[in-house]
Amino acid sequence: MAINTDQVMISHDEIEKMLDRVSAELNRDYAGKPVVVVGILTGAFIFTADLVRRLEMPVIVDFMQVSSYVGEYSTGELKIKKDMSVDIKDMDVLIVEDIIDTGRTLALLKEKLWERGPKSLKICTAFDKPSRRVNDLVPDYNGITIPDEFIVGYGLDLDGKYRDFDDVRIVRKE
Ligand code: IMP
Ligand code: MG
Repeated sequence: MAINTDQVMISHDEIEKMLDRVSAELNRDYAGKPVVVVGILTGAFIFTADLVRRLEMPVIVDFMQVSSYVGEYSTGELKIKKDMSVDIKDMDVLIVEDIIDTGRTLALLKEKLWERGPKSLKICTAFDKPSRRVNDLVPDYNGITIPDEFIVGYGLDLDGKYRDFDDVRIVRKE
């Protein structure tokens, strides 16, 4: 089976416009307040880098690597592969994600991070696939809503590949 990634869904130009819009919303809402920005590895590394360079408030940037799995007797469990090193108690925290699909990962991560006592905890995602959601998770900041397609590029991968594309492409298996 061959993988075809010829079809561009979102151009780099549209991504730049999205970055300008989302960063303007964040600059308005967090004006003057220090924020802990937590990028979710690996997919959000590019979005996080592009976003923080457009932010005007003081930021501390950190990263976490997590995954969720549905266990036999549970609705989902969170595995923390790499934790952040910043103490988020009483801080304004912004989770930066590449894409929200079922919403399981971020619902579990939010629950876990609330236990650490942040002042606020919000989610900013580059892309959102709301048609796939299994819970009521809604991002506080959303770049671009997309249909139910598997996409790669701008940090998103298929088996570790294609993260380096500067646009977003649809994966076709043929
Ligand atoms: P979920 O919201 O818990 O289902 O998982 C979201 C994670 O699944 C994202 O952080 C991505 O790593 C991955 N993912 C979901 N949809 C896509 C896609 O279209 N392309 C690449 N990765 C995806
Ligand atoms: Mg991911």
